[in-house]
Amino acid sequence: MPHDVIIALDFENKEKTLAFLDQFTGRKPYVKIGMELYYAEGPDIVREIKARGHKIFLDLKLHDIPNTVKKAMRVLSRLDVDMTNLHAAGTIAMMEAAKEGLTKEDGSCATLLAVTQLTSTSEERMRQELLIDATMPETVKAYARNAKAAGLPGVVCSPLEAALVKEACGPDFLTVTPGIRFADGDAGDQVRIMTPEKARKASDYIVVGRPITAAPDPVAAYERCCREFLGE
Ligand code: C5P
Repeated sequence: MPHDVIIALDFENKEKTLAFLDQFTGRKPYVKIGMELYYAEGPDIVREIKARGHKIFLDLKLHDIPNTVKKAMRVLSRLDVDMTNLHAAGTIAMMEAAKEGLTKEDGSCATLLAVTQLTSTSEERMRQELLIDATMPETVKAYARNAKAAGLPGVVCSPLEAALVKEACGPDFLTVTPGIRFADGDAGDQVRIMTPEKARKASDYIVVGRPITAAPDPVAAYERCCREFLGE
């Protein structure tokens, strides 16, 4: 069931990011802060965007030993983001530790998602370099099941795999999907893509970057995404 459109703030610094956000004078979009912006500006950028009234998905894709990830998640829990993530490849033990670290003393916890297989990884590379012999759909389903077993509420996956994930983990298990393009838009470097309208069927959140950030009128492009995905 479609919940929201998340704009990927893939900008190199705070000035460009805030200039982009200044254009949104009405509804405050849910935004994603990734590694580039976070590493450039540090945790203050999260606090500043949050103070402007946006919901935040902090996309740092943690992957390390369970104890390290748990302690890092404890630090991130103080930023009060709405959503964050890690790699399912870090194992169930790592995901459980992360959840524990992210859970605050009052028992509340940001939505913690697992990345299944990056959409930039092909089945061929997975086999040759990662030595995973299962198919991509089997791997994505298995990783999603691991995330569920660790107590996580959902995954980040390709929109083409969202239905499979729902089949494996149930309709309430969240699917957050990048790789979104308008029917008449540029694919860019994304290969496995889907329109916001088609993503409605199995995605709970769509993550949209360049179709909005590089549009001549980003606010109009965002509103079009909301109309197509949320049916507004
Ligand atoms: O510009 P575009 O719409 O392709 O941006 C998609 C966003 O989603 C980027 O921030 C990218 O890093 C992220 N992402 C992705 N594929 C994944 C995971 C994250 O494109 N598998």
